[in-house]
Amino acid sequence: MPSKFYITTAIDYPNGTPHMGHAYEKIVTDAYARWHRFLGDDTYFLTGTDENGQKLQESAKAAGKETQAFVDENVEVFKNLCKDLNISNDDFIRTTEERHSKVATSFWKKLEEKGDLYFGKYSGHYCISCENFYTELQAPDLICPHHNKPLELKEEDGYFFKITNYKDWILNYIKTNEKFIVPKRALNEIVSRLEKEDLRDIAFSRPNNGWGIPVPGNTDFVMYTWCDALVNYYSALEAESKLDYWPASVHVIGKDITWFHTIIWPCMLHALDIAIPKQIYVHGMVLGSDGRKMSKSLDNGVDPYDMIKKYPLDTFRYYILRGIPAQSDGAFSEEELVAKHNNELGNDFGNLIMRVVKLSLKNLPEKVSGEGVEQNVHYEEVFEKMKVHMNNREHNKALDVCWEAVNQANQLVNDTEPWKLKNDPEKLTPVVYNCLYAIHALSLLLSPFLPASATNTFECLGVEGGGFETLEFGKTVYDLKTPEALFPKMEL
Ligand code: MSP
Repeated sequence: MPSKFYITTAIDYPNGTPHMGHAYEKIVTDAYARWHRFLGDDTYFLTGTDENGQKLQESAKAAGKETQAFVDENVEVFKNLCKDLNISNDDFIRTTEERHSKVATSFWKKLEEKGDLYFGKYSGHYCISCENFYTELQAPDLICPHHNKPLELKEEDGYFFKITNYKDWILNYIKTNEKFIVPKRALNEIVSRLEKEDLRDIAFSRPNNGWGIPVPGNTDFVMYTWCDALVNYYSALEAESKLDYWPASVHVIGKDITWFHTIIWPCMLHALDIAIPKQIYVHGMVLGSDGRKMSKSLDNGVDPYDMIKKYPLDTFRYYILRGIPAQSDGAFSEEELVAKHNNELGNDFGNLIMRVVKLSLKNLPEKVSGEGVEQNVHYEEVFEKMKVHMNNREHNKALDVCWEAVNQANQLVNDTEPWKLKNDPEKLTPVVYNCLYAIHALSLLLSPFLPASATNTFECLGVEGGGFETLEFGKTVYDLKTPEALFPKMEL
């Protein structure tokens, strides 16, 4: 039986149009989902939108729209972004859907029955953009560390989650399960915060201003948006009778929301005796070209739509996946994107296909058989190395390994000089067959990262895509078609 692999992105706030961070996270998660399908795992990939926050209500008001209409409009844009980026998500959950609120409500009731919710008074410093309270240790000057805006003092009655009951358990869990939080730096930061800070119970409700999921039994309150949002990972499965995918294999998130995913979510689940996710992968942040956080005020933001209008989608995907380190922040540079398009995708990969297939079509029959051909190229080791890097959530390193193999394939063509064998089909066939096999193997290995380009190459070779096991030296007959230029030269 294939192993189950359940992967999620964070769910986005649809209070505006999607930005580079949203595009980045979806592409990265998509590469892992496709990679696991490539490995033969029974994979399920969820993304969606986080719609119950107070922030949504305020943004709608500022736009002069009804909250629901405003949110519906923006969510369409987020859904389209998934299509436009060729994201292979199996479901898209909206937290305003009934299938979600039902499960969130039942989570609340069960926490209450368990005695882990109580009513009390809260006083704290709040950032509405994060929908989060900050302690004085985290924000000594009472300025939000993420949004650089003054925090608002809130004093409210409401419900609290007794997370303090679970502090020792979660700290011990994190320390003894090294792969639970990846990378190590994120794990160390959380452990040090847990050890230093005096953990307080969490306010789990907000006064009901007509937006959000009502607290069961007390409609003066709605659930705190994070309390319901985190449940999406579970509700999306429960609602579709797919709980056999639980626990999640990996939640992919940005570092600004590590605390919620590594502390609050596991404690909620543990309180209800539900298995916790196997891993939280904290990716880095895409920064502006000046190396600072992308923001409107700094005018250093890059719109993902501008990029995919100007350049092929796979160029954008490739740059995101290889050009930005998987585990630390990286500045977005359009110059680098264009350079990668021209040099790596165009010269290295595109040209490899062009020159081999064209030469073959010119000098051999369209069908190139491998019968009796001696195998001079092998990709098992490349595959194994890529597996290790993908397992460590270092997709950029997996691509580095694959690119070394692309360069070696080019070297093979240079060394075997097939153009010198033009008039000798008997000698030419085995040389060309090895080169075609190399292109086939590389396209398979690249298919989770560059799905559209891989499909084009498969068509050109006359083969089907699939897992690594579909690669059969000698057995596959390549039925060639003239390739179209995959990555024609581009200027900035
Ligand atoms: N709604 C919450 C998440 C709830 S998950 C139960 C949220 N939404 S968000 O729209 O602000 O962010 C969505 C994701 O995008 C988060 O993982 C966040 O870290 C990520 N990114 C936001 N800006 C980013 C960059 N500049 N670079 C990379 N990812 C970034 O937080």
